Amino acid sequence: QTGLFTYDSGFLSTASCKSTITYIDGNKGELLYRGYPIEQLAEHCNFLEVAYLLKNGELPNAQQKDDFEVTIKRHTMLHDQMIKFYSGFRRDAHPMAVMVGVVGALSAFYHDALDLQDAEHRNVSFNRLVAKLPTIVANAYKYNAGQPFMYPRNDLGYTANFMYMMFGTPCEEYKPNPVLVHALDTIFTLHADHEQNASTSTVRLAGSSGANPFACISAGIACLWGPAHGGANEACLEMLEEIGDVSRVGEYINRAKDKNDSFKLMGFGHRVYKNFDPRAKLMRKVCYEVLTELGLENDRLFKLAMELERIALEDEYFVEKKLYPNVDFYSGIVQKALGIPTSMFTCIFALARTVGWMTQWEEMMTDPEYKIGRPRQLYVGAARRDVVPIDQRG
Ligand code: SDX
Repeated sequence: QTGLFTYDSGFLSTASCKSTITYIDGNKGELLYRGYPIEQLAEHCNFLEVAYLLKNGELPNAQQKDDFEVTIKRHTMLHDQMIKFYSGFRRDAHPMAVMVGVVGALSAFYHDALDLQDAEHRNVSFNRLVAKLPTIVANAYKYNAGQPFMYPRNDLGYTANFMYMMFGTPCEEYKPNPVLVHALDTIFTLHADHEQNASTSTVRLAGSSGANPFACISAGIACLWGPAHGGANEACLEMLEEIGDVSRVGEYINRAKDKNDSFKLMGFGHRVYKNFDPRAKLMRKVCYEVLTELGLENDRLFKLAMELERIALEDEYFVEKKLYPNVDFYSGIVQKALGIPTSMFTCIFALARTVGWMTQWEEMMTDPEYKIGRPRQLYVGAARRDVVPIDQRG
């Protein structure tokens, strides 16, 4: 049981589930996907390899990797009727609202996904979602920008194709910069899964009732949208813009420490990590690589973020509370440099996390001991009492 927890009346007595997918040691700042350290996966594998690993439990060999890439490419297009969904939204709709709607609507197009007992149907749903999320996200961006949708190109790799659909136009040839493609591909890997966080727990809870996978992923997207969770990278960039200059860092550090001030340092702290989030270190490295490639190594916000990190990590409040940068601290800066608008940051997070959500969903669907989620509560409300006729109420 590797020091884990025991089942008790169908539920783990102190945890939500047993899992073989992702391991986090919050005190050591360690993150493993199927036993592999995130640092090694980020360095040696691309995102689809990591998706294969999460889904199947083992890294693919060369043939398995090629076959998986071909399989995913077969599902990148959206049903043409789905394209019409976008026109029902206001042009300025938040792209996460669009994603919740469009991903949930996939349930209306793929009725085989409703047969959850069939392993092959579940497998195809996994592949459809991993393949279509880039198209759905890119379409949301294009709709917001008032530009034509770009159909997926199967001659491009997974992340290059996404960048093509995001930034390409029918007017001229678009060749994704391989350095930037690699950076975004690594960002996808860093966001692929993260154990039983709020949105993954949402997907599992929705799935435990027998809801179809598209509806479950739509629920996960909705949960991820919150600024305390996946929306933190958008909030962190807004915070850095508000701080504006290194001279004001102290003011915001003091606000973050003030119990009477609701302000929290966005991109700092974590429910599990009480040491560095290993993804934050890797994200800082990716950020520097992108800024250097673009000649922006002196980027004002990047410099400000590094100074904020340095000051906070020397501050006794943050040291005592074990508050370190998390995955969201640098991800906004690098995504902004990649040309991704702030409102799309959490969409990028959701695109990548769909691999983890579907892996966790499949694990739950095949766990013979998992029952419908039914968390209990500690009732602290009114004791039993009788109704008083309205003409006798105070
Ligand atoms: C993600 O769960 C996951 O795995 C999520 C995620 C994933 O990959 O799925 O990792 C993605 O959600 C990362 C987190 C992104 N959110 C933010 O960066 C928002 C800013 N962070 C905070 O909202 C906060 O750190 C949380 C919500 C992330 C965690 O909050 P907790 O559980 O309260 O953290 P804690 O118990 O470690 O806090 C200890 C103390 C508390 O004060 P006291 O009650 O002890 O007086 O530190 C305080 C907290 O109030 N604190 C902060 C702080 N984070 C915690 N104070 C100032 N600034 C912060 N950022």
